[in-house]
Amino acid sequence: MTTPPLALIAELTHRCPLHCVYCSNPLQLRANFEELPTEVWIQVLEQAAKLGMFQVHFTGGEPLARSALNSLVSVAHSLDLYTNLITSGIGLNEKKLASLIAAGLDHLQLSFQDSDEGSADRVAGVPVHARKVALANLIHECKSLAFTVNLVVHRHNLDRLESIISFAESLGPQRIEIANVQYYGWALKNREWLLPTCEQVQRSVLIVQRAQERLKGRIKVDFVTPDYYASFPKPCMGGWGRQLMLVDPSGRVLPCHAATVIPGMDFENVREKSLSWIWEDSGSFRRFRGEDWMPEPCRSCDRRTLDFGGCRCQAFLVTGDEAATDPVCSLAPAHSLIEERISHANLSCGPDGASLPPSWTYRTQSVPSSPRSPLQAERTEGRVSDTPTS
Ligand code: SF4
Ligand code: FES
Repeated sequence: MTTPPLALIAELTHRCPLHCVYCSNPLQLRANFEELPTEVWIQVLEQAAKLGMFQVHFTGGEPLARSALNSLVSVAHSLDLYTNLITSGIGLNEKKLASLIAAGLDHLQLSFQDSDEGSADRVAGVPVHARKVALANLIHECKSLAFTVNLVVHRHNLDRLESIISFAESLGPQRIEIANVQYYGWALKNREWLLPTCEQVQRSVLIVQRAQERLKGRIKVDFVTPDYYASFPKPCMGGWGRQLMLVDPSGRVLPCHAATVIPGMDFENVREKSLSWIWEDSGSFRRFRGEDWMPEPCRSCDRRTLDFGGCRCQAFLVTGDEAATDPVCSLAPAHSLIEERISHANLSCGPDGASLPPSWTYRTQSVPSSPRSPLQAERTEGRVSDTPTS
């Protein structure tokens, strides 16, 4: 029997009021009318708890766009699942926050695009930074809620990293996550504009180390490294089918957020199969579990139990072969493809790393709108007691 997963990532919707240029959602976003009804999400939570999971991360898109979020938090809490809300904050206000906490919300991660308002709003594609700051002050007041501030960094804001960390610190979280862009979804489309220079990366590592030292015992500072500059890949999702299950807005169950980019792979849906069956027996979760699938050099490499051969989606997106060694790895046969991107990034920037004006592709929901009216969709969700979104 396979060790049970630790956590469920519940992508409640792909709807989002922001248009971030580095969004890791797929380019083909799921439409409103494909979204799982609330009663199915409740069954998913019950199955997750039964399967032995400890945590649920409510995410999206913007999970606050689902009016039944409160009910789902309440159900998860009643099942003893640790509840985390990953949000841009848009759709949240004092009343909504209080009701989420009353429903049993344990942790909230609020994302920021920058410390500088103009730059933040330019990346988000909408003017939301000031509202987020006001919201962070509200969250900080809620002493029972664990609070993380997430800041995404890239070529156009890494030179401000010191002020970004000071800004995050001023919001009073218990944890700051400085996350370099990972190149999936919309971020891959904008990779040319987002990849930092080598000099920026080296400087940022030192700045984060100094902040970690200075804030020790007060605020935990985590750093998601830019994996294009790493010598070895990250153990993506803790290894394929090893720790996490992601349910997308339409109910497909994925080993990671980007898995649908891999062609020819069938993903089961919670409308038809149980989480337990999908975890144990589905072809998709078994495909890259363990070591049998590994090519050389992974197969005989000592690090294979640490990084599990890296990221399958990145392997496909960069090399066209999902079973290849992650090209980020310095030992990978296709590593030169990453080196090419890095040298291009270092040549195409001035010393400040930001000399080219970006022409970004913003995340857009290009899927058809619901065949039902939005009111009908809300009524479907409303079969379970609900709280208005805002
Ligand atoms: Fe990891 Fe494979 Fe690279 Fe070894 S060769 S470090 S297992 S990706
Ligand atoms: Fe899919 Fe890494 S994002 S395995």
